[in-house]
Amino acid sequence: MKTKITEMFGIEHPVIQGGMHYVGFAEMAAAVSNAGGLGIITGLTQKTPEDLAKEIEKCKGMTDKPFGVNLTFLPGFAAPDYPGYIKAIIDGGVKIVETAGRSPEAYLPALKEAGIKVIHKCTSVRHSLKAERIGCDAVSVDGFECGGHPGEDDIPNMILLPRAAEELKIPFVASGGMGNAQQLVAALALGADGINMGTRFIATKEAPVHQNVKQALIDATELDTRLVMRPLRNTERVLTNPAVEKMLAVEKEKGDATTIEDVAEFVGGVYPQIMQEGTMEAGAWSCGMVAGLIHDIPTCEELVGGMVKEAEEIIKGRMQQFAS
Ligand SMILES: Cc1cc2nc3c(=O)[nH]c(=O)nc-3n(C[C@H](O)[C@H](O)[C@H](O)COP(=O)(O)O)c2cc1C
Repeated sequence: MKTKITEMFGIEHPVIQGGMHYVGFAEMAAAVSNAGGLGIITGLTQKTPEDLAKEIEKCKGMTDKPFGVNLTFLPGFAAPDYPGYIKAIIDGGVKIVETAGRSPEAYLPALKEAGIKVIHKCTSVRHSLKAERIGCDAVSVDGFECGGHPGEDDIPNMILLPRAAEELKIPFVASGGMGNAQQLVAALALGADGINMGTRFIATKEAPVHQNVKQALIDATELDTRLVMRPLRNTERVLTNPAVEKMLAVEKEKGDATTIEDVAEFVGGVYPQIMQEGTMEAGAWSCGMVAGLIHDIPTCEELVGGMVKEAEEIIKGRMQQFAS
C-alpha cells in the first residue's frame, strides 16, 4: 500500500509504532520495521544519550529497514539532556524522529540540517497546524481514544481526523484507538495517509515486555481504561487496576488542589516494575481503549502484513460494492 507516508519514510506499509516508554526498545522497533512498518525507539527510556546511541546501534544490527526515534518533550523544569539525545540520533544516522509533548520548534533546525524527517504527535488541530507552520514534515493526530496523553480537548478521532484533513497541507497519520484493518481503511477514508499504533503493538510476540502485560491487554475490554492526572492538566489514559482506582480516589478528594506529589507514588518510576517484572498493580501505565479489540498476540509481521492485506481486501471488496 502506497501513501504519502510510505513515500516520505521509505517504508512498505503505512503503519507506525509510536514511541512507548519501556516498550520501545531496539527489539520492538526492529520487529515493526522488519514487518514493513516504521518502528520507533523511545529516546527517553534510555537513561543517557550514550545509552540511546547504543540502542540505535543495536537496532541497526537487527534491521536494515528505516526506523525512527521518539523524543518526548516533557512538561516541567527538570529537562533531560535533549541536545545530547539529538546528537546521538544524528550521529547514529537515524533519519526519522517522532516528537511529542511540547513543541519541538527549538530543536527543528538541528534535525532538519541533518536531513531528518520529523513527525510530531498532536492531540488537536491547532497544535497540528503549529507543527506544520514550524516545519514538521508530517503529523500524528492522536485522538481521545489513545493510550498515553490525549490532551485536554477530548475530541475523538471520528471528528479529529476529518478536522485535521480540512486544515492540514502536510500528510498525517491517524493515531489512537487503531488496531485492525477496518480502522486502517476508515483512517484512510477520513483523510489520513496511514496509522500510528501504540497499545496494539504491546500485544505482539516481539514486544519486549513481561507476558503479564500482554495478557492484561487480552483480558481488558474497551471499558477498562481510566483518565488520571486530569486535575494536573496532564491527563493520561491508563489501564485500570487497584493502584489506579486509589489514585483516582486521591484526585477526587483533593480536586483542583491535587499536586504531582499527591500522586507521585502511582506514576513515578513504575514502568520498569510493570513492563519488565510484570507487577501489574505497581501503578498506572498507558493503555488505549483499543484494548477491547485485542484478542491475540501475533508477530509484528502477522499483525502489520495481515492488517494491510485485509485492508486492501476491504477496499476492493466491501468498499467497492458501495461505489457501483
Ligand atoms: C505503554 C505506553 C507508553 C507510551 N509512552 C509514550 C512515550 O514515552 N512518548 C510518546 O510520545 N508517546 C507514548 N505513548 C503513546 C503512543 O506513542 C501512541 O501515541 C498511542 O499509544 C496511540 O494510541 P493507542 O495506544 O490507542 O494506539 C505511549 C503509549 C503506551 C501505550
